[in-house]
Amino acid sequence: MARDQILTALEQAGGKYVSGEQLSEDLGVSRTAVWKQIKILRGLGYRITASPRFGYLLLGTPDLLYPRELRKGLGTRNFGKEIYHFHRVGSTNQVALDLARKGYPEGTVVIAEEQTAARGRWRRAWFSPPEAGICLSLILRPALVPMQIPQVTLVTGVSCARAIHKRLGLRPGIKWPNDLLLDGAKFGGILVEMEATAEQVYYLVVGIGINVNHEKADFPPELQGSATSLRLVTGTRLRRLPLVQELLELIEKDYDEFCRDGFIGLRERWLEYEVTLGKTVCVRLGETELIGEAYDLNLDGSLLLRMEKGETRRVNAGEITFCKPL
Ligand code: BTN
Repeated sequence: MARDQILTALEQAGGKYVSGEQLSEDLGVSRTAVWKQIKILRGLGYRITASPRFGYLLLGTPDLLYPRELRKGLGTRNFGKEIYHFHRVGSTNQVALDLARKGYPEGTVVIAEEQTAARGRWRRAWFSPPEAGICLSLILRPALVPMQIPQVTLVTGVSCARAIHKRLGLRPGIKWPNDLLLDGAKFGGILVEMEATAEQVYYLVVGIGINVNHEKADFPPELQGSATSLRLVTGTRLRRLPLVQELLELIEKDYDEFCRDGFIGLRERWLEYEVTLGKTVCVRLGETELIGEAYDLNLDGSLLLRMEKGETRRVNAGEITFCKPL
């Protein structure tokens, strides 16, 4: 496509002007057609200056999560071969579920700058204002039984924590099963949805939400006390593109290891980042609530609680909150 070729030519010029004449000659289109594409590129956020004498110069690439930019230097084997990008969408998980149902392959990525009906765990809404965070959904087709799926969600949480640690030098804590915390506040979460029967998983959609450049005032009042963003913690605005690339690379690596060797090694990695064990937690399971000391992560990914009378309870689903020691 001429637009992409123009962009590539401007990038390859490495900070030098490229004349409109040369572009039109190389691409076999008129100079007016080149100018038209330049205007579209500007509309997409690319900073391009135009000089009647010298031509066009690329000054900057936007921090938008365009497939073209994401693929540049993306070190994955399979993830992100197909990427669907939206400036605005209801929920990337919903789009990915629809694509998965139509047979789109493992590794397909759906990403959005803004979501208007994003969902979190336990039917909560997920706050996704424009161009501030990472809202990404990934289609997976693992050969697993439904019982193993909670492990996949734990694995994804570790990969996200590792990606942020590696890129930013910040060490997130993981609250079981996979809430991502910094300074005790939540900045990221994962929602895994699937199509399965009791025996067989057809596909999974792993939805990842990370608050990157949110300011305090961006959050609705009810979240201001409990939510944070990477920008609030580091004090700087961050580019989302390299973070998404790191996420996809590490999720793929960890997922491959999980499919090959099982959960054992990844459980160890989860334990390096977890901040739940040793604490007294309340687990909400529908109408009932359990209170106990979280003392270990079971080999199947469930949380082991020591209850008041010393007995053990295994929790494989639920929302936990930290509470006062028993
Ligand atoms: C949680 O409750 O902690 C999970 C939040 C998951 C939000 C992400 S954002 C991308 C994807 N699309 C959605 O609608 N939800 C997930």
